[in-house]
Amino acid sequence: MAEASIETRFLHAIQIGLGAWQWGDRVIWGYGQTHTYKDVREAFNVSLNLGVRFVDTAEIYGSGTSERLLGQFIKETDQPVLVATKFFPWLWKLTKGFLPRALKGSLERMGLESVDLYQIHWPSPLISPETMMEGMVECVKQGLTRTVGVSNFGQKRMLRAYSTLAQHGIPLASNQVHYSLLSREVEKNGTLARCKELGIRLIAYSPLEKGLLTGKYSVENPPPGVRASRYAEMLIKIPPVIKLLQAIGQNHGGKTASQVALNWVICKGALPIPGAKNPQQAEVNAGGAGWQMTADEVAKLDEATDGFRDYSSGEK
Ligand SMILES: NC(=O)c1ccc[n+]([C@@H]2O[C@H](COP(=O)([O-])OP(=O)(O)OC[C@H]3O[C@@H](n4cnc5c(N)ncnc54)[C@H](OP(=O)(O)O)[C@@H]3O)[C@@H](O)[C@H]2O)c1
Repeated sequence: MAEASIETRFLHAIQIGLGAWQWGDRVIWGYGQTHTYKDVREAFNVSLNLGVRFVDTAEIYGSGTSERLLGQFIKETDQPVLVATKFFPWLWKLTKGFLPRALKGSLERMGLESVDLYQIHWPSPLISPETMMEGMVECVKQGLTRTVGVSNFGQKRMLRAYSTLAQHGIPLASNQVHYSLLSREVEKNGTLARCKELGIRLIAYSPLEKGLLTGKYSVENPPPGVRASRYAEMLIKIPPVIKLLQAIGQNHGGKTASQVALNWVICKGALPIPGAKNPQQAEVNAGGAGWQMTADEVAKLDEATDGFRDYSSGEK
């Protein structure tokens, strides 16, 4: 096992981050309809004011719009921001040289000289983890990224990435995977435990299960778009889970269901990056950190969702 170097420690100190997929994405998230430029700008500012400084974006979010917006917002603030973005392994991007080129494109969109974390968005059947990591090594050598991560990698590919980087003295900083109270595959398949063992930060995406764990959606009031059919079965099962989240929230000074759901992820040793469309959502989500539910409460939530069908995307 490679020593977790000083460069990746900052990730382990972060309790909660902010997801920026919603910023500019019209197809899935309805940017321009449900939320505007002003909304996401305020979501960013509220987050910073509440101490949330780690923002996750990707070159494909809104075809680059998310990165552009993030770059503009960063320019307007004098507060420090930690930036994570992602490389998308399109079928024609088959060599390691594509990684530094793609990262330079992301940096140009954001107006930055380097990022804090560069991640492979998805594994690819056409590019080996070894080739991808050789590209990442180039990015580190050129000073374009501080640390290296993967996303949606199952254990086998994650370990191959880890070993390739270790040969260059670079630790694998993170694996960003789908993880929420309603999608617990990474607990069951050992990925979470393996990450902890190797000092890899597990970054939890969709920690609110795309809004379901906020309690605002029900069979009568389903979420818009593709979420309605994807979660049709879950909407039937979820009311007792929401009640339990709310009851636990009451034990902790009136935390909301969203805040308790995010705190559950933190208690599991992962870093949640909830997406926020507006300042109200950002403010609530920031309150998922800075406190801790009891082990008994975590166990009750586990029990409430133990038998649920898993919705995780990503490699198993
Ligand atoms: N690596 C990957 O493959 C991958 C995949 C997915 C996501 N991600 C990253 O993870 C981040 C978070 O995941 P996600 O966006 O899929 O799901 P999420 O964080 O579970 O849910 C985000 C959505 O829930 C609703 N919401 C959030 N906070 C709320 C609050 N306090 N009150 C009420 N509603 C609230 C909003 O949608 P509505 O208002 O429309 O309900 C928001 O767009 C993304 O932004 C992205 O950075 C990465």
